Amino acid sequence: MVQLRSSQSMSLIERNHLAFQLTSISVRELLFVTDLPCDVYGINDGVFELVLKRRSYINKEVIKGLIQAGRFELFINHGERQKLITYHQDNLRKLTRSLSVGDPLEKGKKVLNLLTINMEYLYKDPTNDETLSLQYQSAKNLAAFLAANVDLHEPLYKSYIQMKHHFIFAQPLLSSLFLLGVLKMSHLFNAKDIESLFITSYFKDIGMSAIPTEKYDQMEISDEEKKLLSRHAMHSVNILQGRIQLGPQYLTIIENHHSFSLLAKDLDYFSPAGSKGEVVAGFETALVCVMDVIAAMISGRPFRPASNLFDSLELVKALIAEQYPQEFKLIVTYFKNFFFKK
Ligand SMILES: [Fe+2]
Repeated sequence: MVQLRSSQSMSLIERNHLAFQLTSISVRELLFVTDLPCDVYGINDGVFELVLKRRSYINKEVIKGLIQAGRFELFINHGERQKLITYHQDNLRKLTRSLSVGDPLEKGKKVLNLLTINMEYLYKDPTNDETLSLQYQSAKNLAAFLAANVDLHEPLYKSYIQMKHHFIFAQPLLSSLFLLGVLKMSHLFNAKDIESLFITSYFKDIGMSAIPTEKYDQMEISDEEKKLLSRHAMHSVNILQGRIQLGPQYLTIIENHHSFSLLAKDLDYFSPAGSKGEVVAGFETALVCVMDVIAAMISGRPFRPASNLFDSLELVKALIAEQYPQEFKLIVTYFKNFFFKK
């Protein structure tokens, strides 16, 4: 039951004072919260009002009610931010340790959402060792879970995109899910390689945390921010190096993960190891890169609609088919099976 406190019951001073103390949260941060660790406020006609009291039990109906009431902007007391973060991180930690117990589809859906919530915390605070190590361990366990449950990929994908997480945090997960599916289908990689490539793909864009998330919605970034974005691959390596267990060959993939994409041209980004325009990367890098391109193209963005799968495959054909014809066929087969096989 949503508990409301009328804004009229707060004095003007009280309400003005609140604005200085509050920090915004996403409605998705209320997912899987059964014992809310802090009060949650909404905004109505420019006035803050209490929407959910601390200790509230939040289920799907409560979240639905908030969305239907147009309450997309939610706030909590700045001093209590850490309580909500800790609540979700404890939840993710417990879930990560028990992925093999219970209904695999429900477990899978929950872990994808909690991992995405924690990804947001990580982007906001990329130097936090505890958040990074939880994300790494959870992604590692998720890789093993997804490798053992390939038949769940499609329902997990469908349920995940319905959650409409911010694309900055959803994109690495979607591209890594596709990557793992193609790697499994190829039968060319062992379990350890698959796990490492999944993690490589999942963390490759963490350097994008250098720019605030809201900026990506507007695509109105300054020249200085464009430069930061063009260096995000190297920045990702700097953030990860020595902090997670990923061999140097995987860090090289991260460093070069835009070698094959058009973004390389757009951002004037080229591998430092190569001369201008030369692609310096192996097949694994190409695969990580094109899965990223496809996942991005078939998903909408605030500033552009989604493309269809065939257009994205056409682009991938232009990017890699000449160099990797067999592998390109494998990618086409994988996506046709994923989206069209009954
Ligand atoms: Fe990237």
